[in-house]
Amino acid sequence: MHVTHLSLADFRSYARVEVPLDPGVTAFVGPNGQGKTNLVEAVGYLATLGSHRVSSDAPLVRMGADRAIIRANVRQGERQQLVELELNPGKANRARINRSSQVRPRDVLGIVRTVLFAPEDLALVKGDPGERRRFLDELITARSPRMAGVRSDYDRVLRQRNTLLKSAALARRHGGRTMDLSTLDVWDQHLARVGAELLSQRLDLVAAIQPLADKAYEQLAPGGGPVALEYKPSSPEITGHAREELYEQLMAAMVETRKSEIERGVTLVGPHRDELLLKLGELPAKGYASHGESWSYALALRLASYDLLRAEGNEPVLVLDDVFAELDTRRRERLAELVAPGEQVLVTAAVDDDVPGVLTGTRFTVSGGTVERV
Ligand SMILES: Nc1ncnc2c1ncn2[C@@H]1O[C@H](COP(=O)(O)OP(=O)(O)OP(=O)(O)O)[C@@H](O)[C@H]1O
Ligand SMILES: [Mg+2]
Repeated sequence: MHVTHLSLADFRSYARVEVPLDPGVTAFVGPNGQGKTNLVEAVGYLATLGSHRVSSDAPLVRMGADRAIIRANVRQGERQQLVELELNPGKANRARINRSSQVRPRDVLGIVRTVLFAPEDLALVKGDPGERRRFLDELITARSPRMAGVRSDYDRVLRQRNTLLKSAALARRHGGRTMDLSTLDVWDQHLARVGAELLSQRLDLVAAIQPLADKAYEQLAPGGGPVALEYKPSSPEITGHAREELYEQLMAAMVETRKSEIERGVTLVGPHRDELLLKLGELPAKGYASHGESWSYALALRLASYDLLRAEGNEPVLVLDDVFAELDTRRRERLAELVAPGEQVLVTAAVDDDVPGVLTGTRFTVSGGTVERV
């Protein structure tokens, strides 16, 4: 798929902007702080209902405005769709597809698909396990938009189970009154059921992406690998792959940890505690890989995501935010060759020279709030 037109109102630094887009490579070039990333961030938001830079919507709304609008015309084969999101921080966001307002924001997922690589992705390698879980979960949602529902069910069940555990912990500390734990049994089952579904999707994904990540790393940094991804569940008892098996194992692990869960008042078992271990050669990348290696690793993960989504059908838009300036000439050329044939590739760079020559295509100058085709 590709975006044929992007339209923003009160999004970040833009009061209004209209950007007609072509398939193929488009580069947004302009000095720092002029609004290049803001443009691609908006495209990414349509694909994930979130920003790659901030966890809440408030910073996305132009200072002084009370809501932002992102609108895109999207072409997939012969099909043309118009998607629109209205961001209302503190209130529910609204969505429209082809001008119909009878849709939830979640229904928009799957129309715009992106794989976005940005400097923030260094955190995939160097950051907390939560960064890697989010990477996996966003990708399973891109593969299968209905997983957005499973993710939010899981978050809800987890919150409610934690609330229950917290009050059990309090009751215990203040002595006397003990809780009726049969309610907890019910939440165990909910958590295990939704957790098993999420977990099986993550395991599937890791298996699918592992060889692609290794291949991408080899292309970017020949001889520097191999790259291995190891999924580490929250408990050693969780070893299965199929949903039923995972359900049973999650249930068993919760029985095992129930005592400490009640002591601490939080859920200690489940996909929210899992880790994706990234290995480079024999060592974990986190804590061992150099800056350049970590950067290539994160990029390899995104290129692998891109390969996977492409192979599964509907081709995503590839967004490369400020990527080329960080790479040496050889890696720059390699990356450019890899991505040049993409259906739509959006690139940002501070100066023209950072965009490799093989990436010919449309150029826009971004400066002082205007986006102009050159
Ligand atoms: N909610 C907002 N309201 C108004 N302005 C905003 C808002 N959020 C961000 N900005 C402004 O947008 C600008 C940043 O835009 P952006 O991140 O797109 O820059 P860029 O062109 O990608 O720069 P760089 O080359 O440094 O990456 C900053 O000047 C910032 O002050
Ligand atoms: Mg930027």
